[in-house]
Amino acid sequence: MKMTPDHWAYLTDYARSVFGAQDDHLAALRDASIAEGLPDIAVDPEVGRLLMILCASTRGRLAIELGTLGGYSGIWIARGLAPGGRLITIEPEPKHAEFAERQFVRAGVADRVELRLGAGLDVLPDLARELGPGSVDVVFLDAIKTEYPEYWTHVRPLIADGGLVLADNVYGSGWWIGDEADPTRNAVDRFNRTVAEDPDFEAVAVPIRSGVLIGRRMRAG
Ligand SMILES: C[S@@+](CC[C@H](N)C(=O)[O-])C[C@H]1O[C@@H](n2cnc3c(N)ncnc32)[C@H](O)[C@@H]1O
Repeated sequence: MKMTPDHWAYLTDYARSVFGAQDDHLAALRDASIAEGLPDIAVDPEVGRLLMILCASTRGRLAIELGTLGGYSGIWIARGLAPGGRLITIEPEPKHAEFAERQFVRAGVADRVELRLGAGLDVLPDLARELGPGSVDVVFLDAIKTEYPEYWTHVRPLIADGGLVLADNVYGSGWWIGDEADPTRNAVDRFNRTVAEDPDFEAVAVPIRSGVLIGRRMRAG
């Protein structure tokens, strides 16, 4: 059977109905964020669950997220952290940050989430000096898609042996990976290929929603 847009929509709905369970707070968070003027661009519940499972699979104690928005994905990641773990999430929009901080409290994860206000490329150099090489178990990229290759340059040395880089929208987002004239597509394609060809990492992108890249450091850099 050929994959058509209708089949894709069917599978997406099916995945949501089977794997998209979430608590009442998370289920209401999207509408609450839209009501406060935040854009409707958070990950979906099945992607959130994937992030939580992958984070838990590393027994992660330190995670970094680029692109907090309203805290939805951050809550999933925080729930996947090992006891005593910490998520540092980076967001330049004060309105998004303020909304997210309230959601971290409501979700009961505020004690393990630290929000850094600023643009990823401004915050990352200082964060890298502060944390040191090989110190981070999970990095989740979900900010500016054209900046994914530069984010990779900054976060790659931070990822611990056995740690993960995760990135959303690597098969498309409003655009589609097949549109070769699109600068966003080309930046994400460059990022995908760079991680795939990195001799210290193994990577694949799963076609869940708009595609999530999963890269694991297989040997110390
Ligand atoms: C797709 S949304 C993130 C969604 C969030 N991860 C979730 O699923 O709940 C992208 C976020 O990145 C933020 N952003 C924009 N420019 C950024 C930058 N230069 N560095 C980090 N985040 C940025 C936006 O304000 C927005 O909140």
